[in-house]
Amino acid sequence: MLILPPRDIRSSEITDEALFWNRRRFLGATAGALAAAVAAPLPSMWPPGAASDDKLTPYDDVTTYNNFYEFGLDKSDPSRNAHTLRPRPWTVSIEGEIHKPQTIAIDDLLRRYPSVERVYRLRCVEGWSMVIPWMGFELNRLLSDVQPTSHARFVSFTTLHDPEQMPGQRSGVLAWPYVEGLRLDEAMHPLAILVTGLYGKPLPNQNGAPLRLAVPWKYGFKSIKSIVRIRLTRAQPPTTWNLAAPNEYGFYSNVNPDVDHPRWSQKRERRIGELLRRPTILFNGYGDQVASLYSGMDLRVDF
Ligand code: MTE
Repeated sequence: MLILPPRDIRSSEITDEALFWNRRRFLGATAGALAAAVAAPLPSMWPPGAASDDKLTPYDDVTTYNNFYEFGLDKSDPSRNAHTLRPRPWTVSIEGEIHKPQTIAIDDLLRRYPSVERVYRLRCVEGWSMVIPWMGFELNRLLSDVQPTSHARFVSFTTLHDPEQMPGQRSGVLAWPYVEGLRLDEAMHPLAILVTGLYGKPLPNQNGAPLRLAVPWKYGFKSIKSIVRIRLTRAQPPTTWNLAAPNEYGFYSNVNPDVDHPRWSQKRERRIGELLRRPTILFNGYGDQVASLYSGMDLRVDF
């Protein structure tokens, strides 16, 4: 697992929050490096997911500029409306092509897989991006523990379906519940995490409490929120945005500046909080780590 050394950054380059978190990361990485020397491999060690010159997006932006259609279509709707979501009690069922199907209460899941911090870029297909210090654990740890059968090839994820808690589900804007999917080898990649918090705090409802996915080399819509079911399957599962507009959203949805969305160029992106747009990088900049998953595939066909 790749562990990059932290880079010192000038305080003029960063927000107070970023300074705080970069110091924290530095301390964490130092402790981690020491621990690794005596007891490798450490299951809870993080490969840093962010390029070292990435500034963290301020907490207020991460939690008030959201896509969560279950709570409205405007970016400010989820932070105003998601108070109706009750993230406790909450269970997640893991089923399908596995030897150990189970339903786990969220707090038991957190005890089983304590959360640690990982900083990822999130690139939305709409052309904006953020840099977020998530708390979470690697999805592959859970998947390994439930023992996939030899037939398992995909993982499908389902959001809670409860129009009382999620009033947006009374509208027909999407087919509810929201569903997403990954190929099993993508889901097993150490960069794919289940998220339980951000900025060291429990995950706010608008960001997908109590459990959401983060797959940093894919467009943000793959990061399904408020997950209640994880199912391993033989066949490629349906995904909400592909069902809604198959010519606009493929199954893979890898960040790719060379494959434009019919309505938005994917060549550039605007970091929330910044004025100028920057070039978008293939696989959102995580190509060194994930490109081999797609060798031999035509990413224009499998977009
Ligand atoms: N999950 C559900 N259940 N419903 C949604 O509308 N929106 C997706 C994704 N997960 C969405 C979802 C989209 S389009 C994006 S860009 C990210 O969540 C946004 O995550 P954020 O609000 O935490 O930045």
